[in-house]
Amino acid sequence: MPPSHTLLATTTPGLEAVALQELAELTGQQGWVEHPGLVGLPGDEETVCVLNLFAQSLYRVYLLLYRGTLTTLEALYAQLVALRVADLLAPEQPLAVRATRQGEHPFTSQDLARVAGQALLESYQRQRGRRPPVNLDAPEVIFRLEARDDRFWFALDTTGLTSLAERPYRRFAHPAALKPPIAYALVRLAGWHAEETLLDPMCGSGTILIEAARYACRLPNLRPFAFQRFPWHNPACWQAALARYPARHLPLRLLGYEISPRFLAGARDNAAAAGVALQLLQADATTACLAADRLVVNVPYGIRMGSTRKVARLYQAFGRNLARWPWTTLVAMTARPKLLQQHLPGVVQHDLEVRHGGLYTHVLVFGRGDT
Ligand SMILES: C[S@@+](CC[C@H](N)C(=O)[O-])C[C@H]1O[C@@H](n2cnc3c(N)ncnc32)[C@H](O)[C@@H]1O
Repeated sequence: MPPSHTLLATTTPGLEAVALQELAELTGQQGWVEHPGLVGLPGDEETVCVLNLFAQSLYRVYLLLYRGTLTTLEALYAQLVALRVADLLAPEQPLAVRATRQGEHPFTSQDLARVAGQALLESYQRQRGRRPPVNLDAPEVIFRLEARDDRFWFALDTTGLTSLAERPYRRFAHPAALKPPIAYALVRLAGWHAEETLLDPMCGSGTILIEAARYACRLPNLRPFAFQRFPWHNPACWQAALARYPARHLPLRLLGYEISPRFLAGARDNAAAAGVALQLLQADATTACLAADRLVVNVPYGIRMGSTRKVARLYQAFGRNLARWPWTTLVAMTARPKLLQQHLPGVVQHDLEVRHGGLYTHVLVFGRGDT
């Protein structure tokens, strides 16, 4: 493992607290929020394995290589060319630099990626006497540079081309599917425990329930990761990470309703691909039994599918039905928080703004209250 012992990880802006809770549970380490959508924590190679294999709230895990001050492109080059990157890579691994930027700068993020790339090639050449291959479309190694105002960080992506959020179980793509890290966060915000009944009354392709099952059973994300091809990767760490969290076989009460037979069939396919047992029924959430310990739902917003008037009627009918049944906590995600609050029974305990698919959505946590 290279000398850095700081890991950075991307998560959903607005849900950093859930990510920090998960990281603490998985690693025993207290992390911190770098800025919205980015958390940090101390870590070693086993932490890299554990996070890539088990973290459900993250998109990518980076090994921090350098933090610096951003003034000019020349100064950036001078800082990065001094890093000994060749030690990190196996011979002939094609690399690429990806950059993002926030703040006022006289250069673009493409300029940052280009200059950082030139510095890396030069540094590599000085160490090995030749240049490494570059492949901007399908690199094996991705370096990440993120600039914010006059500061930047530079890191090695341990996850690889495919984000952790791209779960292999997604055989059926629902047109309004939740990103799995958000689905996981909703389950955690509901405070669900494996012995309780969890109901998603509008389950679409089943993402929330599948993520709940993966969390309860500790199912690893078994797929190739970039770090496995680095010369410093020790396969014993991978085995140690898997041994640390053996899968649990628990009888779970995970129940999903969906009004559309097509989406219901898609949820069944996804659950089978994920290897989790869900009880999935074709039912109308405005009339079906909603008795459950906890409910978690990503309701239609009427923005991509349906109309505002239809959505208002749905929220009203769902709210009336909810008031008839015993439940303790309901977590609902919507891009129409006022409308939902107007119609749902219970008391809003938390209201988190979360960006999802280009929309500002709200995650509302309702307690049953006295209503
Ligand atoms: C935003 S999508 C849920 C997406 C889901 N979380 C996923 O990741 O695939 C809302 C779902 O609610 C379903 N729905 C709408 N009205 C319903 C009702 N009255 N009862 C049950 N399901 C309903 C829609 O068919 C749609 O699949």
